[in-house]
Amino acid sequence: MTIPNEHDIQRAAERLRAGGLVAFPTETVYGLGADALNPEAIARVFEVKGRPASNPLIVHAADAAMARGVADAWPELADTFAEQFWPGPLTLVLPRAGHVPGIVAAGGPTVAVRVPDHPAALALIEAFGGPIVGPSANPSGYLSPTTAAHVREHFAEEAVLVLDGGPCRTGLESTVLDLTRRPPEILRRGVIDAQTILETTSIEVEQPGSPDEPDGPVVSPGVLGPHYQPKAPVELVTDIAKLSARLKACGGRAVLLSPPGRSVRVQPPHEAINMPGLASGYARRLYAALHEADAAEPDLILVVLPVLKDSPIWDAVRDRLRRAAAEESA
Ligand code: TXA
Ligand code: MG
Repeated sequence: MTIPNEHDIQRAAERLRAGGLVAFPTETVYGLGADALNPEAIARVFEVKGRPASNPLIVHAADAAMARGVADAWPELADTFAEQFWPGPLTLVLPRAGHVPGIVAAGGPTVAVRVPDHPAALALIEAFGGPIVGPSANPSGYLSPTTAAHVREHFAEEAVLVLDGGPCRTGLESTVLDLTRRPPEILRRGVIDAQTILETTSIEVEQPGSPDEPDGPVVSPGVLGPHYQPKAPVELVTDIAKLSARLKACGGRAVLLSPPGRSVRVQPPHEAINMPGLASGYARRLYAALHEADAAEPDLILVVLPVLKDSPIWDAVRDRLRRAAAEESA
């Protein structure tokens, strides 16, 4: 793993102290860090991302004690989740402490917080000495970054200092779990799903409808409608037998993300990107593959949707692919 050295970490913490922005690696995707208690710094995060003010940010803490500090109330359940899943890709929504600026939470009464499982992220937060916000380090609506290069594609070094920690291990954003509801409710799918939570903690949480019918009861503001989208239009195919007809009809150049673990030959000018067969590998590769596909500036990105593969990771992958392909009206 690429690990930033102590000098890089100190320089980045200094940038945060000065109210600046630092992109940092986590196990899920790269985050765009700023002092979680500095409203001007946070306003810059919204500005450089072009993020709607209505979409709240996740706060990142070095440990459960620091996370507790941004919450106004800390239910016993939160201890259980923190013990079982932190550091890790589970974000908890809790009542917001009074000293946490409203802009972090889009003016709402809650705050989302997690402890990331990445040595560079933890070292940065510790060196800074307090919680930092960390939305994904991409322009709002675009694909999440899983490498430092993805971040640099969109943000100038003067605006955003990038800590390079190599490619992200998990590759999909954290599960967002709302603990202000009873039962708690998953607002954004991730690799930790309701079943995993039940097996690990015996706690039942609600999960929005199956990813095949993504109209769950509640979702995080940031996962409504289109999201995680490349510039080129994305179309999902489920029937691989129809692939060549679809490519012929495309009328331009298409890049295909092949079915998991299977290589598919396509005729030029089309291109194909092979995808790993295992869920964890596919998830880790997904955003990088979509970035690569998009860089070829095709007329269409065709993705063979992994079907009949049941696991929390495949569910989260399908969720992200559906959002990548969603229409504006979705
Ligand atoms: O894995 C991740 O969570 C990454 C890494 C960097 O930690 N961060 C990330 O942040 O994905 P972002 O801002 O791209 O997505 C945050 C999601 C959005 O869907 C947002 O609406 C939701 O969390 N969220 C944040 N605060 C919330 C709150 N107080 N209540 C409900 N949803 C919230
Ligand atoms: Mg995001």
